[in-house]
Amino acid sequence: MKLIVEKDYDGISKKAADILVSEVNNNSNITLGLATGSTPIGTYKEIVQRYKAKEVDFSNVKSFNLDEYVGLEGTNPNSYRYFMNENLFDHINIDKANTYVPDGKAKDLNSYTKEYDKLIEEMGGIDIQILGIGTNGHIAFNEPARELSVGTSVVHLTENTIMDNARFFKSLEEVPKTAITMGIGSILKAKKILLLASGENKREIIKKLLENDTLTTDLPASFLALHPDVTIIVDEAAYKG
Ligand code: GLP
Repeated sequence: MKLIVEKDYDGISKKAADILVSEVNNNSNITLGLATGSTPIGTYKEIVQRYKAKEVDFSNVKSFNLDEYVGLEGTNPNSYRYFMNENLFDHINIDKANTYVPDGKAKDLNSYTKEYDKLIEEMGGIDIQILGIGTNGHIAFNEPARELSVGTSVVHLTENTIMDNARFFKSLEEVPKTAITMGIGSILKAKKILLLASGENKREIIKKLLENDTLTTDLPASFLALHPDVTIIVDEAAYKG
């Protein structure tokens, strides 16, 4: 895994945007794998600025998001579909019909999750995947557990994640307890992976990830070691050399 240490949040956002914009400029039909959470917000802001400066065109770009809360409509401000529209899709010329976020209201979740993976395959796979990391080492919503799913699945969120994400909701009770998430296998199929982490609260997990040399379901991000093209971009606050 390649490591890039930037000075601050602004630095990681610019770096990630540089990489994404150059990938889109090299392949106008690219399929992006996108993430939510507070970490990629700065990257999306940078991308919007570059789009406005006419440095990049998204008219033929497709995207797949990693995860979504079960039970939330896309119009709910806490849904990841809403987040993506607000932070990126509404501000660039991507065709919304080409943006896929798992449907938290799907009736038959089991068959829906299988269809999501199939759709990614049919679209030619993800060219570059953006990831954040949970303070417990989760990627997307693949939580530390005895077993991890290979493909997209429905997962129960851990107390730790529910608490971490409660800041976006009015109360702890409102945080959904289950989510649809791309699986570790679906994530590892992306051709290139960028993992972003910022701030002191990520320092412990980044240290653990960088020092780790075993594959363990206790640290879902450890499976990234199996991928040949992973870049971790952290700021100084998240990195202790
Ligand atoms: C959520 C998302 C993850 C994200 C993580 C970290 O749980 N499902 O995809 O990486 O939060 O979020 P943040 O960037 O806000 O720390």
